[in-house]
Order: sequence, then structure tokens, then C-alpha cells
Amino acid sequence: MASIELRRLGKSFGSVVAVRDVDLKIEDGEFMVFLGPSGCGKTTTLRMVAGLETATSGDILIGDQRVNELSPRERDIAMVFQNYALYPHMSVFENMAFALRMRHVPPEEITRRVNHAADFLGLGKLLERKPRELSGGQRQRVALGRAVVREPAVFLMDEPLSNLDAQLRTQTRTELIRLHRRLGSTVMYVTHDQVEAMTMGHRIVVMNGGSVEQVGTPKEIYDHPRTRFVAQFIGSPPMNFVDCTLRTDNGQHYLWSPAFRHRLDDAQAKCLADAGSERLTAGFRPEDLTLGTPSGNGETAIAAEIDVIETLGSELHVFLVAGESTIVAKMPADAALRQGAGVAAKVAPGKLHVFDRDTGLAQW
Ligand SMILES: Nc1ncnc2c1ncn2[C@@H]1O[C@H](COP(=O)(O)OP(=O)(O)OP(=O)(O)O)[C@@H](O)[C@H]1O
Ligand SMILES: [Mg+2]
Repeated sequence: MASIELRRLGKSFGSVVAVRDVDLKIEDGEFMVFLGPSGCGKTTTLRMVAGLETATSGDILIGDQRVNELSPRERDIAMVFQNYALYPHMSVFENMAFALRMRHVPPEEITRRVNHAADFLGLGKLLERKPRELSGGQRQRVALGRAVVREPAVFLMDEPLSNLDAQLRTQTRTELIRLHRRLGSTVMYVTHDQVEAMTMGHRIVVMNGGSVEQVGTPKEIYDHPRTRFVAQFIGSPPMNFVDCTLRTDNGQHYLWSPAFRHRLDDAQAKCLADAGSERLTAGFRPEDLTLGTPSGNGETAIAAEIDVIETLGSELHVFLVAGESTIVAKMPADAALRQGAGVAAKVAPGKLHVFDRDTGLAQW
């Protein structure tokens, strides 16, 4: 069993609180992705699980065993570091083989595993080179290979693909998904790349300032972000936000700002009235907007002007100016749109998010 459990885990460096009261259970065989801005405590969390950093407070359990006091060697873990840390005097082959030799794996098995990893990481022709003779991306792949060949119960990976070009990154991502399926290891995987997070993670942990902001499946995080912070972290281009207030007009309830007017159904209106917050922020994703001709019947959600159209081949990103706000809409590549045209933008039913402006909490 290699589930991982963190109980009120904390780490301070002097007065800097790097990780704060993290409670998290990662199931045996689960692929858990850690996502969050620079400095939010991702690497520190991984290093504590690996045993490279001592926890200031709380417990770390691997399987059912508390491991706080165990050395890194005594935990069946392989870690891919953010900064590679290869052995400079060893060849690529030896870098990958080293941990297996230490564990007395038979030589033919070592050769088989290293060659297989080198193959899928595109390192086959570089096995005799030393790390200094490699590019950054190649070194990163060696670091990944070195962890992969060990086939451990737990993988800790800290941005293992960050220095690869787009094509290699996509390819290696798919290989890692396959590898995980084959080995069934438990994985803690740190990335800045939300596509990696969405495609690889069974679940995603979003961290902010040392704390866990939300844990959920990629779909839960995307559909129901619990806070504005989470909402803006997932999705590309990011979610649009417009500050607004609650208004009632002829018995109808609206979210209102000079640039934005969204008619609420009774349940939504009640939910916001019950919460009692005056200061709200509406959030809607670029892919949840439709653009139409302004009708002037008062039901138009957002009256806007097309400012910039970016053509991405498969789709358009349309930047709209609505009052003080700039809003992005994602449209099909063949949409007939013209810069400077006035449009009525509307949020698709059920796709509106509302956050309390002060607490950042989602209102439904
Ligand atoms: N050895 C250390 N001494 C003092 N402060 C540290 C140390 N290591 C990390 N920190 C601080 O702890 C916080 C969390 O750092 P950490 O490396 O875990 O962030 P991260 O989420 O991995 O960021 P990044 O995405 O940039 O890698 C930061 O404020 C960092 O400056
Ligand atoms: Mg880091």
C-alpha cells in the first residue's frame, strides 16, 4: 500500500511560513497534481514527503506508517527535482542506472529498464554523454528517466517537463500517463501547466500562500471553482471577472454593473440575497460566451465592442471592451466578426460564477 496522507502538515523557514496546515489524502495509485503560483509551497510539500525537509508540524503517512522520522532511503520514493541534480561525473546511462545498482538489481534488468526509458524519453543516442554535454531539456529528461527506471511505489515529480519544447512535452506527458497506468504508482506531480494538470491528474490540489485552496477532479475544479483564485488559475484564456452588485428591477433580479447585466433566476437571486453580500464579482469563461447582434430589449447581458481578434487556427480569441472591462470570448475559427463592431455578449445558461469580492468565495 502506498497511499500518502498529510495531516496538518506545516513548514516554516524562520519567519517564512512555506506550508500551512495541509490536510490531504492521496489514494494508493492516484495521480495527484499540485498547482499554484510560484512560492506557494509545492516544492516544500514534496520535499517533506521525500524526507529531504523536516516538517515543522503535522504528520506524513505513507501507507499506514508515519514516516516523519524515516530517512529518504527508507521511504520507497523516487523524486524528480525541479533542478535536475544529476551526477556530473557519470554518463547518462550511469545516472539512470545508479539507483538500480545500489539496490542490486541484476545487470540485464538494469539495461532493459534504462534502455526502455531512454527510448521513450528520446535519450537513446545520448547514453554515453555526461550531463555537462547536454541541453537543459535533455538533462531534465535524464532526471525523469532516473526516477522512472526505479519503478517505486511513490513518484514525486517537481515540474519534470518544464524545460521541454511543446512537442516533446506533449509526447512525454502521454508516456507518463502510460507509465503510470502500467506501474500503478502513487504520484505527486507539481506543474505550472494547466493542460498537464487537467490531462494527467486524477485530482488536482490548488495551493495558494502555503495552504490548500481546493482539491478536486479536473472537472470539479473547472466547473465548480470554490474561490476566485482557483477560478482564475484553470482555463485558458482565464475566466473573465466583472465586479457587480445585486439589483432588482420590476420584480426581476439582476447582477448589475455599468458593463454587465445578467438576469438571475429565483434560486440564484435567493442564494445571493441569503448570503447578504453587496460586493460581488461575476465570473464567466471565454468559452461560455456567445456573441450576437445588440437587440436593445433590455435583456442584453453585456454590450461591448470588438477590440482585437486573435486567430489561433482552430479558434478565435475575441477581446471585447465593455465599459471599463475587457472581456475575452472564445469563438469558432469561422465566426464572422469584425474589429470595431458592436456586439451583445451573453453568458451561457448555468455557466455564470459569482464570487464574494471580499472573501473570494464562490456563492454557489
Ligand atoms: N530553504 C529555504 N529557506 C527559506 N525559505 C524557503 C526555503 N525554501 C523555500 N522557501 C520559501 O518557502 C516558500 C515556498 O517555497 P517553494 O519552493 O515550496 O515554492 P513553490 O511552490 O515550489 O514555487 P515555484 O513554483 O517557484 O517552484 C517560498 O516563499 C520560499 O521563498
Ligand atoms: Mg517549486
